[in-house]
Amino acid sequence: MIKITGLCRSYEGRAVLDNIDLDIEKGGFIAILGRNGSGKSTLARHLNALLIPERGNVEIDGMDTSDSSALFAIRERVGIVFQNPDSQAVASIVEDDTAFAPENLGLTEDETEERIAFALRAVGIERLRRRSINELSGGQKQLTAIAGILAMRPEYMVFDECTSMLDPEARRRILDCVHELNNKYGTTIIWITHHMDEAAEADRVIIMDNGTIKADGAPRGIFSDAALISSSGLKLLECAALALRLRDNGYDLGTVPLTAQELAKAVSGYTGGSK
Ligand SMILES: Nc1ncnc2c1ncn2[C@@H]1O[C@H](COP(=O)(O)OP(=O)(O)OP(=O)(O)O)[C@@H](O)[C@H]1O
Ligand SMILES: [Mg+2]
Repeated sequence: MIKITGLCRSYEGRAVLDNIDLDIEKGGFIAILGRNGSGKSTLARHLNALLIPERGNVEIDGMDTSDSSALFAIRERVGIVFQNPDSQAVASIVEDDTAFAPENLGLTEDETEERIAFALRAVGIERLRRRSINELSGGQKQLTAIAGILAMRPEYMVFDECTSMLDPEARRRILDCVHELNNKYGTTIIWITHHMDEAAEADRVIIMDNGTIKADGAPRGIFSDAALISSSGLKLLECAALALRLRDNGYDLGTVPLTAQELAKAVSGYTGGSK
């Protein structure tokens, strides 16, 4: 598990992470939301020792990120993909970049090839395999970075708004793949996003605000709380907003829906009065 205790970080005298306590169990799918500048990426960078705590501790399966002798083992366990695809490539050709992690993990040539093929297929860029990363679009670079982490198969995968440049179809494809890794192999997923509907699919939603954890819970509770969502600078899910408006007007559909399907079901099953 990931255990964060009293984590603090400041930039230019301003607290960017303010005494964060957070436990992340293995096997979960956690979404992190929060307005711009709330500290999400700074938190993410502490998870694989790209940043070391100024105060407090971050432990990955019992290994302290400030222990430099554990650095390699921590980075093997926690992989991160960032929003900006330009700074992430470690090689100039797509397949070499995807091969980097498996080769460094000491896998055989066959295993490495299997992982490259799997990762490129999963993100849908097999055709770009021999292309130079410099010539790719921003979205294609993001897909290459995502393929890199899929080929690495760390136990904890952190995705920091890494699908921001992709079209809805590609975003969906990546999210489906990540859900599959979570379901099939128990890979722990930390999905940082500005998309409420993506967060609604998580087991657990964390809202950051001003360097603190403002809310932490199951998506249904979080997305039913209109006051919490708006005071965090976020938007309600469209279906939840509609259900809450109906409730305000005397039509209580019961449990706040998280998907259009749930909303449709609640509306079609509505029998009048409050449920
Ligand atoms: N290297 C840095 N130097 C100075 N300030 C920084 C640095 N990195 C982050 N900050 C500041 O820390 C705060 C938190 O930044 P962070 O990138 O963690 O937020 P975020 O929640 O990821 O935002 P976004 O949604 O825009 O990605 C911001 O005010 C940012 O300007
Ligand atoms: Mg960020």
